[in-house]
Amino acid sequence: MAVRVVVGAQWGDEGKGKITDLLAEQADVVIRYQGGNNAGHTVVVGEDSYKLHLIPSGILHPNTLCIMADGTVIDPECLATEYDSLVTRGVSCENLRVSGNAHVIMPYHRLLDELQEEARGAGSIGTTRRGIGPVYTDKTARKPLPVRMWDLLDKDMLRQRVEGQLAQKNVILEAVYGAEVLRADEMVEEVWRYAQIIQRHICDARALVFEQLQAGADIVLEGAQGTFLDLDYGTYPFVTSSHTVAGGACLGTGVGPTMVDSVIIVSKAYSTRVGAGPFPTEEDNETGDRIRERGCEYGTTTGRPRRCGWLDGVALRTSANINGATEIALTLLDVLDAFETVKICTGYEIGGTTHGMMPARPELLAEARPIFEELPGWECDLGGIAAYEDLPRPTRDYIALIEEIAATPVTMVSVGASREQTIRRDVP
Ligand code: IMP
Repeated sequence: MAVRVVVGAQWGDEGKGKITDLLAEQADVVIRYQGGNNAGHTVVVGEDSYKLHLIPSGILHPNTLCIMADGTVIDPECLATEYDSLVTRGVSCENLRVSGNAHVIMPYHRLLDELQEEARGAGSIGTTRRGIGPVYTDKTARKPLPVRMWDLLDKDMLRQRVEGQLAQKNVILEAVYGAEVLRADEMVEEVWRYAQIIQRHICDARALVFEQLQAGADIVLEGAQGTFLDLDYGTYPFVTSSHTVAGGACLGTGVGPTMVDSVIIVSKAYSTRVGAGPFPTEEDNETGDRIRERGCEYGTTTGRPRRCGWLDGVALRTSANINGATEIALTLLDVLDAFETVKICTGYEIGGTTHGMMPARPELLAEARPIFEELPGWECDLGGIAAYEDLPRPTRDYIALIEEIAATPVTMVSVGASREQTIRRDVP
């Protein structure tokens, strides 16, 4: 039995879906622990590419139990659509389980996310506008009772919750945003249609997780977004509203911290970020454009071009610490194939002092100037390489520097989108 956590080491989009899919091959259970359809995981199987927003990446393995745990937030329209499209493509969703405790993203959450972002104007966070902030706000507010997945089992209960919420939300919509009020009847009917598709998968997820732990199952806890989008440990306020870090995996699933065996942080071989917020190694120039084009760095969820830059070793070191990382999965290394030289940020210069860890204070982070180490590039196609020893010397030197900076071994190296294009190494 092993419990492994897969966490994004950066600002999301690190390729966690591919790594989870690989681990799922030997796993009995894959559990999504936080976030909602702000995430976008792409998994390539042979000629087929699957874009998943909610359903755990393990769903592509027919024998893997896939759980969306208590810490996730679920848009029923998105879940029902994703479910239907997988089934239409011949992927069985029989093994999907959805926690009744998970909070439901309702149309008023999406609308409020939109209105709040508009009202922020130039100071907007750049959210995915999927209603994530508003649904987690309601979760922490507790009353009036928000809609949870349990309420999708009982239409009268759903109506009660929606009416309770709209009594409050309509006042805000009218008075603060001058928007039209929403009607409970239409909303209940719409959500109920989706509820009927997913109802039979709703369960007591914490009991199920506990059962699996007791049975000695191999479990992968799948994170969404990345470390620096964590509500507490990210670059606040330019973060998401959930706990993306490894600790969040315990909170979101009910797996106790002592049950976790390993934490795999997934890092791109460079850095990207979507939306606003600090990004010390950003290359807002030709280099960034080149990385974006080679890495197809456009959002899976929103299609937005991602901001790109060199690998931020300070962020990676900080991430390894926050997550208690035992391994690094390095992804998209082949994107750097064409560069004559490659750079890694090894420190931040802030007010004349060198920092090795990302400072928590936003004013300091805003001033950070990256100190780069420049290494020779490898200028060849890594896509066909299957063994670590066959990687060119400069590539291995690049990886060795990453390991030294983060004091964590790189155990997986992804050199292409397909499952086969992954080089594995044992933990020394
Ligand atoms: P929200 O999660 O939609 O509230 O967005 C908050 C911030 O997190 C924004 O900067 C988004 O661009 C970012 N974000 C949310 N989900 C993802 C993701 O899956 N990948 C990358 N960035 C994300």
